[in-house]
Amino acid sequence: MTKLLILGGTAWLGRELAAQAVGRGDEVTCLARGGSGDVPDGTRLVRADREAPDAYAAVADTDWDVVIDVSRQPGQVRGAVRALGARAGHWVFVSTCSVYADHSRPGVDESDGLLPALDGDTATVEQYGEGKVACEQACLDVLGDRVVLARVGLIGGRGDFSDRFGYWPGRFARSGPVLVPAMANDPIQTIDVRDLAAWLLLAGDQRLTGPYNVLGERISFGDLLTAAREIAGHDGDVVEADGDWLQDQGVQPWMGPRSLPLWLPGDDYAGFMSRSDERAVADGLVRRPMVETLAGALAEERERGLERADRKAGLSPAEERELLAALA
Ligand SMILES: NC(=O)c1ccc[n+]([C@@H]2O[C@H](COP(=O)([O-])OP(=O)(O)OC[C@H]3O[C@@H](n4cnc5c(N)ncnc54)[C@H](OP(=O)(O)O)[C@@H]3O)[C@@H](O)[C@H]2O)c1
Repeated sequence: MTKLLILGGTAWLGRELAAQAVGRGDEVTCLARGGSGDVPDGTRLVRADREAPDAYAAVADTDWDVVIDVSRQPGQVRGAVRALGARAGHWVFVSTCSVYADHSRPGVDESDGLLPALDGDTATVEQYGEGKVACEQACLDVLGDRVVLARVGLIGGRGDFSDRFGYWPGRFARSGPVLVPAMANDPIQTIDVRDLAAWLLLAGDQRLTGPYNVLGERISFGDLLTAAREIAGHDGDVVEADGDWLQDQGVQPWMGPRSLPLWLPGDDYAGFMSRSDERAVADGLVRRPMVETLAGALAEERERGLERADRKAGLSPAEERELLAALA
């Protein structure tokens, strides 16, 4: 039985990690403030604020087999490795492919150059990549080869409150013509949160070390839309709009309000969704068919309301109608 400490565990990925670990018989403790949600049954929650000086006091006198950290803040990560590193058997740091400096070249692996590390303890949303570089460095400085750096790409499936991935199956579940960006052949890599969590647990068990890109299988955006449309039972038109035209209309790429989620125009991002995942696949990463990830996201979209007004990403029905009319 693995004695596992999750720094996090109350939000999306951390909660999935805790649930899977409990399910396979691990003894699981999560450390978080508790404001993001609860932890799965069978898990112990230690309430602590990682910004406080004594944040790790309640868990520092234990020999953990594995510690998994999902933080984005260099100050929190430095504090954790300092307080817990000496007694941790192995450490899994959940990083991101946003640590890379260049996203223009498809197929590159973990040796690609990184952004400069953030100088400071706290990363803003805009400093996410630099902040994660500083987190990785803090882990390496203290833990050396006792840490695996999981550079994760876009995560999909049930539980994603960014509303990005779910937009497409959710939109196709409504009737009427659907506006899509003209990028059918562009690659996309989305990893199901369940497959990601399973690999992170395996990486801890097997004491993997160093950086790994942990990504979904590379498919085309067109194939993703086709699968989303089929699973949602949509039989209306699909209307493609040119990227320049969409930008002229104030439609945002990638995420956020008035956006077409996952759309990444321009050469600068030509490699963002087609990095090499060979290393993780060789070391045990198993991915379910995309249709299962879409099904999880669609079920949640239906539960939360297909026409909900508080979507964080995508077009509202009125925005889409107005854009389709302008395009016609
Ligand atoms: N979404 C994507 O597509 C994507 C892509 C690449 C990488 N990632 C990475 O995947 C991970 C996602 O993790 P997630 O969904 O579990 O978590 P998350 O949404 O990043 O939430 C952070 C976790 O840390 C806890 N936390 C935050 N501030 C804290 C503090 N001051 N003291 C104690 N606990 C604190 C939160 O719990 P409380 O609020 O309850 O304290 C929560 O459990 C992140 O590392 C992210 O960078 C995501």
